[in-house]
Amino acid sequence: YFLGIDLGTSAVKCILVSGQGQVKASHSTEYPLLQPQPGWAEQHPEDWWTGTAECIRRLLEKSGVQGSEVAGIGLSGQMHGSVFLDRQRRVVRPALLWCDQRTAAECEWIEETVGAEELGRLTGNKALTGFTAPKVIWLRNHEPEHYARTAHLMLPKDYVRLQLTGEFGMDMADASGTLLLDVANRRWSPEVAERLGIPMEWLPPLYESNAVAGHLLPAAAELTGLAPGTPVVAGGGDQACGAVGVGVVQQGIASVALGTSGVVFVHDDTYQADAECRLHSFCHGVPGKWHRMGVMLAAGGSFQWWRNHFAHEELELARKEGRDAYEYLTELAQTAPLGSEGLLFMPYLTGERTPHPDPKARGGFIGLNLRHTKAHLTRAVLEGITFGLRDSLELVKASGIEINELRVNGGGARSLFWRQMIADIFGYPVVTVNSTDGPAYGAAVMAASGVLDEDISGLCNRWIQVVDRVEPNPESRREYERYYSIYRSLYPTLKSTLH
Ligand code: XUL
Repeated sequence: YFLGIDLGTSAVKCILVSGQGQVKASHSTEYPLLQPQPGWAEQHPEDWWTGTAECIRRLLEKSGVQGSEVAGIGLSGQMHGSVFLDRQRRVVRPALLWCDQRTAAECEWIEETVGAEELGRLTGNKALTGFTAPKVIWLRNHEPEHYARTAHLMLPKDYVRLQLTGEFGMDMADASGTLLLDVANRRWSPEVAERLGIPMEWLPPLYESNAVAGHLLPAAAELTGLAPGTPVVAGGGDQACGAVGVGVVQQGIASVALGTSGVVFVHDDTYQADAECRLHSFCHGVPGKWHRMGVMLAAGGSFQWWRNHFAHEELELARKEGRDAYEYLTELAQTAPLGSEGLLFMPYLTGERTPHPDPKARGGFIGLNLRHTKAHLTRAVLEGITFGLRDSLELVKASGIEINELRVNGGGARSLFWRQMIADIFGYPVVTVNSTDGPAYGAAVMAASGVLDEDISGLCNRWIQVVDRVEPNPESRREYERYYSIYRSLYPTLKSTLH
């Protein structure tokens, strides 16, 4: 078996995958998300480790699989979060997460100091509030005593790696989101680190995602029930792992990941970045390959907000009947007509990244009238999220990358209604695959690739099959086109009002 660990924002998910690619069992363990101020998001790295150890223990218990039957471990995790450790490897302060928006001033400073164009040339990306380097500068500006104690910088899943193996290490896919990586050449950028004054000694060794980057320590084996010495591969950020997990490992295949964030992701055989860096250009989890993506911050997150605060009846029904409240909500949405009778939803509840890199962006319902019911509002939320993702797709298309197939994954992919909406709004066939365990599955594929010495794409071709295909409906497509052009005009028009 191969163990895939995905260290998410609300929970860690662990799965066991057999040597034939079948999922034997999975388990999740939650941990708290701290929001000490509006727009801030932090977690205790210690919670990640206790949560992961418990999750693995429970997974082994419930599956009946022995620790000694696990041949390799792969790590996936939320990207960009900054973990600061001192010389004794102790946590200096809670980690600042990918969805933390406090670093707008630091991003401006970085773009001024390095020069926006030069930064793009050196890293393939622009300074965005979620990324890691701005968080380091924030620490230096606001908590100099913590900065002075820091000796190691790492990403969330790499803290778990350190506890599992005692080794520092990071894969290039996740490292791409630090703004300290020379993405084109798959190495740290001493030029950027130097100009920002971030010590190179803080940065861990880099690996390709399927490379073995350590072995399980006896102490970690005791806590988890796994066998000491089990190989741990480098793994990847959750986007790269999620893409591998649905087989987005060759040119022409793109994915739409509907988690808390929403991501349009395309594989690139060669390194490409547009001059304005409007899409993220990152290393892929496939060795020697790259990918580009657009990231919407609150995709599933907007729908979750809607469910939590405005769907009491659905939550109650779901509790009574053992179903999922989202199912009732999507059923309700279907009773409203396409376009929600002119009601539009802006999904910028936590600011936005692509295509509007703006931590101050805000959401809204626009165009309400007396005919609108909860069904319209619910449908408008789903349509607004999908229009926002279409913005990223437009950037992908403008960059000249050809797309033949769109694989939808994440919690949102379960709804046929939403998949059809994506097909109609995007204008591409939308498929789903047999692997539905997301980044944890991709991490297990990476582990299998490293341990069995087999190509990631070969494994994906063997293990992952398309199971469902939805074609765009030409008439709906035309109608949505009209609403999409109105949606596109909203942010530029309202930007200054909402700031
Ligand atoms: C990707 C990103 C998010 C997180 C979610 O750039 O910020 O998708 O990785 O966990």
